[in-house]
Amino acid sequence: MSTKDNLMAAFAGESQANRKYLAFAKKAEAEGYKSAAKMFRAAAGAETLHAHAHLNAADGVKSTEENLKAAVSGETFEFEQMYPPYLEEAKKEGKDKAIQSFSYAMKAEEVHAKLFAEVMSNLSKDDDSVYYLCPVCGYIEKNTVPEVCPICNTKGSLFTKVE
Ligand SMILES: [Fe+2]
Ligand SMILES: [Fe+2]
Repeated sequence: MSTKDNLMAAFAGESQANRKYLAFAKKAEAEGYKSAAKMFRAAAGAETLHAHAHLNAADGVKSTEENLKAAVSGETFEFEQMYPPYLEEAKKEGKDKAIQSFSYAMKAEEVHAKLFAEVMSNLSKDDDSVYYLCPVCGYIEKNTVPEVCPICNTKGSLFTKVE
């Protein structure tokens, strides 16, 4: 494999380790293991540094205009091509948790793609919009908080404002 391939493989692995350690930290916190939680969070931070360095070395970070384009196509691929067969298979297997996580992600990615495209078309006149994130399904709403999340019904008051 070329160094570029190795960098992208290392980027994928370090990115996964980051999210896994954050999930493990949450669990450690819930079980009352404070040092374990902190060490998981410390390592998660380190894996992010590694992931970003690998991605940069692979020239994976370009201009914001190009990055927005990459974001639109990534999100679109996910909701159009990746998640539908995953969801289908999960339904066939009767895996309820997977059905929920795939369908939340699939619906949220469609909204993300639309919002990224919107930012892209307004890039020259950036209006410093505010975004609110549903903490359950990943739905994002621009400038206002909905009464309830249109994807998962979580109350709008629980949404987090993204700075
Ligand atoms: Fe997304
Ligand atoms: Fe939601």
